[in-house]
Amino acid sequence: MNARKTKQAAKRKEASCLRESGAVYTLGRRTTAPSDLLPGFDLIIPGVPQSDPTYAIEAGFRRYGLEGEDVFLALAARCVQESRGRHNGFEFFQYERGLQVLDLVTHDRQIDSILARVCLGSDAVGHLPVWYQYFVGRRFREGSGKFFTPRTVARSMANLLPLDAGLTLCDPTCGGGTFLSEAARLLNGTPCELVGNDVDRMLVGLTEAVLFLTCGGTQKRHLFCNNVYDRGPFLDAYSKRVDCILANPPFSLPLDSVGLRSTLFNMGYHNSDAVFLDVCFELLKEGGHLVCLLPHSIVVNVDYSELRAHVEREWDLCGIITLPEGVFYMTARTTTRADIIHLRKKTATKTAASGGIYFANAPTVGIPLNSRDTMSGSNSLEDIAATVRARGCVAGAADS
Ligand SMILES: C[S@@+](CC[C@H](N)C(=O)[O-])C[C@H]1O[C@@H](n2cnc3c(N)ncnc32)[C@H](O)[C@@H]1O
Repeated sequence: MNARKTKQAAKRKEASCLRESGAVYTLGRRTTAPSDLLPGFDLIIPGVPQSDPTYAIEAGFRRYGLEGEDVFLALAARCVQESRGRHNGFEFFQYERGLQVLDLVTHDRQIDSILARVCLGSDAVGHLPVWYQYFVGRRFREGSGKFFTPRTVARSMANLLPLDAGLTLCDPTCGGGTFLSEAARLLNGTPCELVGNDVDRMLVGLTEAVLFLTCGGTQKRHLFCNNVYDRGPFLDAYSKRVDCILANPPFSLPLDSVGLRSTLFNMGYHNSDAVFLDVCFELLKEGGHLVCLLPHSIVVNVDYSELRAHVEREWDLCGIITLPEGVFYMTARTTTRADIIHLRKKTATKTAASGGIYFANAPTVGIPLNSRDTMSGSNSLEDIAATVRARGCVAGAADS
């Protein structure tokens, strides 16, 4: 017993040294209601006193003085370990640091048994962005404009694109890589290039880990950590080279200046979501597709009528799907409304896809839209995306 206590004290001391060597983001006090379980944590662990594994894992790591980012890195590193995939080193994901944290706790059989369960299998990959938001959550919410897209929405949006072999698909503000990984799943081993960028280095690391766990060997991955509103290595490398963009840009961040040619900025739209359209225009090839979330106000408000007129001059409208309030409720506790906009960069000779323009309203997206929502199993967005595909509205550059 004494030997065990001494060992735990030594590990706690080691943990505090580890924390001092890097930035640590701790969680605020949290009360976790049973209905608030994280995906991937909703398992009952036999032999663990607490029936709530979220609590068990937090409490377990906290015994060693480990919280927040450290716990997330340990979970992510364990997922990589469990995948037994071949990896040649990560550029952004702090794998070594995650392993160091794991090393402090895996002698603890209770923690090890939880990790073995939650970090195994293909579902664990999809949970990584959710775990990131949970364990690094405070930092995430304080930085505005950072709402992760739920996987169900990302999957349907990817389904609206012509995912042909050899395509270059990009998310210029990739966050946790949900769009890229959902597209990679749909591509199912088909050769392609997946390009992600985010201004937040740790998020690029998360995308790197997620794509490592999702992609097949023929799916090349390229990651950047650039400000997308400035010219830099990312824009320089992919300007007019991208076939398809899937994105959810930061909403409503004020921009004082931009480092790329932006007609919308010059027209007086100095916000991140509006200028993002010009960023995508810069990246896409002629005929390239953009499927992205934008604030509902851009689609309907009179303040944006000149923006919409400009968009009609440069892009062909393929479709708009309005989403219900609460799409980001579970990931960011916000009721900000967003719509899916599908545009295609005009070409000199070709017109819009032969299937015509689609307009639809999706009242459900397969997740709870508020804390009382009991209809979360229903997903009308998925049906809409399937119908759009079946009607031939999803055409590649070569199809029309
Ligand atoms: C709304 S989140 C979406 C993340 C991810 N695409 C998703 O859908 O889950 C917006 C992302 O934009 C990133 N971001 C904010 N400003 C940026 C900038 N100037 N350049 C590149 N990325 C930026 C944030 O770090 C955040 O990850």
